[in-house]
Amino acid sequence: MRALFYSIKGGQGKTTHAVSYAKHARLRLVTNDHQNGTLEIYGGVFPPGHLTAVRPEDSFDPLRHPDTVFDFAGYLDGRVIAAARASDVCVVPVCFQSTADMVPAISTVRALLKLNPNVTVVINNTERDVIPLVREILGEQFPDLPVFVVNKSRYVWRLADEGRTLLELVTLGGLYEHTLRKMIPQVEALYRHLDRFRYRAEVDRTAFEPIRLFGGLR
Ligand SMILES: Nc1ncnc2c1ncn2[C@@H]1O[C@H](COP(=O)(O)OP(=O)(O)O)[C@@H](O)[C@H]1O
Ligand SMILES: [Mg+2]
Repeated sequence: MRALFYSIKGGQGKTTHAVSYAKHARLRLVTNDHQNGTLEIYGGVFPPGHLTAVRPEDSFDPLRHPDTVFDFAGYLDGRVIAAARASDVCVVPVCFQSTADMVPAISTVRALLKLNPNVTVVINNTERDVIPLVREILGEQFPDLPVFVVNKSRYVWRLADEGRTLLELVTLGGLYEHTLRKMIPQVEALYRHLDRFRYRAEVDRTAFEPIRLFGGLR
């Protein structure tokens, strides 16, 4: 399975969610954000070799990366386009601070939908009272778009330091469980949704094998 986490704008939660889902689903992570410290910060979270960066001078073919989460930032360049086309699902985190944030969010979703029908938005790290507004704006633009919410929580800041994923936070004990009691079901709902694409990709792959074998025998 391949999943692309992408938004044109930075600071939305791409890396936070890409790392966490990759760990949950035991996928590798490829980032194009080689200057923002993703490798340094999250290197210890993954088994050796499971977190890599593509640099501007590297060639990149997403088909050479099975079972991978792409955490891509920046312009919608050839690599993002290739990753979007090759992915089973594309996730766009949106951190809403003002209506100005909706312009890059909408253009990201619109661009990705031209490349892949399976686009999902996560309203992330957003004040609770404006979430209905964000849902409304997205719903007007994209009536069929799956939209999930992951609350703003200061515990998320510690994930990188502690080498933990969002879901792992809940196992830490009573205080966390209490503080995160709203966020955990949100993350679980998002992962159930993404896992459906993962299982489908797995079924497609195993269904494809006998055909290749048959083709090879002729
Ligand atoms: N749900 C959340 N609650 C609180 N802080 C968050 C949440 N999601 C992300 N953050 C914080 O926001 C910042 C940007 O997140 P990051 O995943 O690095 O964004 P991006 O990869 O899109 O630039 C980080 O400091 C991260 O810890
Ligand atoms: Mg990032």
